[in-house]
Amino acid sequence: MKISASILSSKKIDVAVKELSLTDVDYIHVDFIDDTFINGKKIPFRKLKKISKYSPKRLDIHLMTSNIKKYIKKFASLNAEYITFHIEATDKVEELIELIHNYGIHAGLAINPETDIEKVKPYLNDIDLVLIMSVNPGYGGQSFIPETVETVKTLREYLNKENLKVLINVDGGINNETSNEVKKYVDIMVSGSYITNSDNFQEKISSLR
Ligand code: DX5
Ligand code: ZN
Repeated sequence: MKISASILSSKKIDVAVKELSLTDVDYIHVDFIDDTFINGKKIPFRKLKKISKYSPKRLDIHLMTSNIKKYIKKFASLNAEYITFHIEATDKVEELIELIHNYGIHAGLAINPETDIEKVKPYLNDIDLVLIMSVNPGYGGQSFIPETVETVKTLREYLNKENLKVLINVDGGINNETSNEVKKYVDIMVSGSYITNSDNFQEKISSLR
């Protein structure tokens, strides 16, 4: 089980990122919103690109934009392990997966809580990760949507049945309680405000593992 820490709720990104560097967190989860796909908390790319200056941690990039091609190109210059975009935001899924792979970066597809998990099935041979949203994208600090557990479970069973090596990442409202609902089915859990609103990041990260 890997943990990816979202900094969307942090007041000072540089301070949060430096502190995360001192923990054993596996990735820093970078949320990018520009109001073309959904409205929410916007941190401009010029700020996000500095993250790699403050930390050697690998980045788990979550694009919540319809300008996917443009931002794949920009974020590919950072220390990205994964670049994930929303299946609802484009009809050029294959092309965009290929673009990410051409940069030598793992490609992920994200789906909103309301979207049928069946929609990702045609792409499972091409992608490295599915990011299942357990809140509606936009802001940190929202409550975990319990129906998501079924989605995660359904995908896990399908991946096992088909012997597919795609990772499952779950994002939104993850804390020491909600993590217990999903941790047996997923490979990565994103957690933001639960970690970054505390004064002991490592303690919170350890409590999720
Ligand atoms: C929501 C973002 C999430 C969010 C996670 O749009 O994609 O990554 O910041 O934060 P918490 O853990 O506070 O829900
Ligand atoms: Zn996210």
